[in-house]
Amino acid sequence: MKVISTERSQVLASRIAGALGTGIVDVKFSQFPDGELYLAAATPDDEMVIVGSVTDNNALVQLLLLIDACEGSKNHLVLPYMAYARQDKKFKDGEPISARAIARLFKHNLADCTTVNIHEPDVLKYFGVPTRNISVGKEVGAYIKTLGLDNPLILSPDDGALSFAQGVASAGGWDCDYLDKTRISGTEVKMAPKEISSKSRPVVIVDDIISTGGTIATAAGMLYEQGATDVYAACVHGVLIGGAYSHLKVSGIREIFCSDTIERGCSRISAAPCIAAALKH
Ligand code: R5P
Repeated sequence: MKVISTERSQVLASRIAGALGTGIVDVKFSQFPDGELYLAAATPDDEMVIVGSVTDNNALVQLLLLIDACEGSKNHLVLPYMAYARQDKKFKDGEPISARAIARLFKHNLADCTTVNIHEPDVLKYFGVPTRNISVGKEVGAYIKTLGLDNPLILSPDDGALSFAQGVASAGGWDCDYLDKTRISGTEVKMAPKEISSKSRPVVIVDDIISTGGTIATAAGMLYEQGATDVYAACVHGVLIGGAYSHLKVSGIREIFCSDTIERGCSRISAAPCIAAALKH
């Protein structure tokens, strides 16, 4: 078995290979003058782990090309982050179920697919191959322990991320709660006040995705008003578009950290050990 990856998931792929005790396959990536993507992989093994987060449209195409290049091998797809997963239903007439459209692309040359804290596990049914979704909740909790916080409150910004937050909180036996969030637009959220014991204690807001940072920044403002001493932000997938990281720092977030499902400067937690453990089963 060997590991191969798209351009944006090289570090995570190398960590997965390390955890599996196997090698990686070299790939050369380039682009044609018209914008088409090109890649050429060295000879694949009989069994391959193909790692590629779909962070944008090019990453999606690169992953599809890589799967095709590994034709003839027994291929295990690792899809650490899947963009479009948030459009998991028709919110109004005429919309696609984007998560379904993307998931349906993964059916050729694949034995199975592993996702990491996918936004809505229900969309796994749309994949054309057997799937499993793993969580890095314990790993996020282990990192929070290293911060040495006194009696932190682990807080989900909505009920959707509550089970992830509970997994994080269980790592340290910490309190866990959630906020009621209403999305007004792609960049604006409103939070109804909720009775949370955040006064005079540090709070770690945990979410599956930080995209614009709007959700966390709004929550942090409310928590500081309620007397929280320090607010931290953790997520699995650090999408961090535009100036999200800076926006969060300006909003008073003490530290922002994420996993390496999307490789960022603040990727303090690796999903590789969990992924490797899942692949071994
Ligand atoms: C949505 O339900 C997700 O769990 C996140 O809360 C959301 O994607 C965060 O987006 P943003 O950082 O743009 O507020």
